[in-house]
Amino acid sequence: MEYVPITKPPVDQMPVLPNLRDYGETRRHWSWDTVRNELDGVPGGGLNKAYECLDRHAKGDRRDKPAMLWEGKNGERETYTFAEFAREANKAANGLSSLGVEKGDRVFMFLERIPECYFTAFGTLKLGAVIGPLFSAFGPDAVKDRLADSGAKVLVTTPELWSRVKEIRSDLPGLEHIVLVTRRQQAEPGDGIVLWDEVVGSQSDDFETVSTDPENYSVMHYTSGTTGKPKGAAHVHNAIIGQYATGKYVLDLHDEDVYWCTADPGWVTGTSYGMFAPWSNGATSLVYEGGFGANTWYSLIEKYKVTVWYTAPTAIRMLMKAGDDIPKKHDLSSLRYTMSVGEPLNPEAVVWSERVLGLPFHDNWWQTETGCILIANYPALEIRPGSMGRPFPGIEPGIIDEDGKLMPPGEEGNLAVRPGWPSMFRTYWNNKPLYDSRFQNGWYITGDRARMDADGYFWFVGRADDVINTAGHLVGPFEVESVLIEHPAVAEAGVIGKPDPVAMEVVKAFVALKDGYEADEKLRRELIRFSRDRLGAMIAPREIEFVPGLPKTRSGKIMRRLLKARELGLPEGDTSTLED
Ligand code: PRX
Repeated sequence: MEYVPITKPPVDQMPVLPNLRDYGETRRHWSWDTVRNELDGVPGGGLNKAYECLDRHAKGDRRDKPAMLWEGKNGERETYTFAEFAREANKAANGLSSLGVEKGDRVFMFLERIPECYFTAFGTLKLGAVIGPLFSAFGPDAVKDRLADSGAKVLVTTPELWSRVKEIRSDLPGLEHIVLVTRRQQAEPGDGIVLWDEVVGSQSDDFETVSTDPENYSVMHYTSGTTGKPKGAAHVHNAIIGQYATGKYVLDLHDEDVYWCTADPGWVTGTSYGMFAPWSNGATSLVYEGGFGANTWYSLIEKYKVTVWYTAPTAIRMLMKAGDDIPKKHDLSSLRYTMSVGEPLNPEAVVWSERVLGLPFHDNWWQTETGCILIANYPALEIRPGSMGRPFPGIEPGIIDEDGKLMPPGEEGNLAVRPGWPSMFRTYWNNKPLYDSRFQNGWYITGDRARMDADGYFWFVGRADDVINTAGHLVGPFEVESVLIEHPAVAEAGVIGKPDPVAMEVVKAFVALKDGYEADEKLRRELIRFSRDRLGAMIAPREIEFVPGLPKTRSGKIMRRLLKARELGLPEGDTSTLED
């Protein structure tokens, strides 16, 4: 990839000084203990994410500072100071406790980005229980699989979203309560169904955050792999150390900032960087419930005077597509620093934003499993467009070969990281063997292919597995194939990511039909609807192609790589294991 350094003003002429001024020095003197000492710890001992994000600010100088500026999808506006936010979270903790939620229990949130989503998250953490965020566009099968695997005790949702998935109830005997937030639509309580206003509304706003051990579980995010259903990557309270540190040094958050992370808490960016990093740093954070719209997004930046903005390549490419005239109609002068994550950020997007917004997007890299940013283009460093940047202090990534041996700069291999940073996941829920399989020769294997240049910048090459990245969200082909083969017409299905100029990849399914079914347009549409109804539009295939049969290995495994090579018109590679 071409190396085009972006010219930036000298560090001391930037509007707000970056927290990380000397990358080399900071790396040399880095200590996680120093960061830990910048946090408070629960007064009774231990570490709790909710205490670091809310309680310590609610008690201190930031008590009346806005923590959350919320704008609803219908234009509603609410502001919560750190003290108000802490009180709402206390009420949620008392409410959940009245339902019998105890330390270690799993409370899942199937909510849009409404304030109650954030109150639930922090109320749950205050109790020492574990949050499981679900993306609000999921369908019933996607929700059921995640609730069943995690053994969730409580689901907090809305009447609208619950009516979409309620058929799953009888399959989830461990799910004791469904709490409905009736902010927009009324509902009746019923068998196991309780109302937020009744359970939480009348509670005391006093609650003493539980003294959790740093190694107690706090958050689990379901993420996709090549095989099997999604796995719950479980994180502990100690993760707040990495989230706080990267909030300070990569997001470069200062007290005067208004920060906006566009990600949904159903995905890890929306929790690590939509909640933990900004609030542990005491920053004011904008939460916008609505979806993408170029005009709306620029208007929000103008209206709330957003200074630090964290978004994703697909959104940036959509902004590019919407044209250069729209940003010109808005005053975007508040912006001082912009970042991107989740998929490769093409160099043109960096050059575009430098030209149109006057600021280049700073790409950074991490994963659900890593819990926090590990590689970044820092505010104080020269950006290399197309590169993910350099390692965070205290992080040691490497490019290794198939035997786990370090490879020289410039060569492509598996991106691996030496384990041991505080935000690293601690297990895959109910799947320790899979967790163990992610380590080799003292390295954590990320599943990405990459190379490092002579100056220590990392460059993403692709995934080492069949996981699909659509608009920055990972989709496991198996989850989609399992739903397709439930349709009576489908004999077998193979699912791949098909390159897309905006979303990076879209989900494409190859389907072989059972005898007696006709491969026509009507059936194709029916299969798309069938998968959407079960999985939600984000996971379901966008495209379906009928094929007479699927290429399989002699042991019967569908060769997705071959399907992909054929789709792209690439050489088919090693087909020696293909069945005759
Ligand atoms: O393949 C990499 C891609 O997204 C994966 C992680 O996705 P997920 O676990 O959903 O976490 C999302 C939060 C970042 C990675 O293994 N990815 C992430 N960031 C980048 C990236 N690919 C290229 N460039 C990036 N900056």
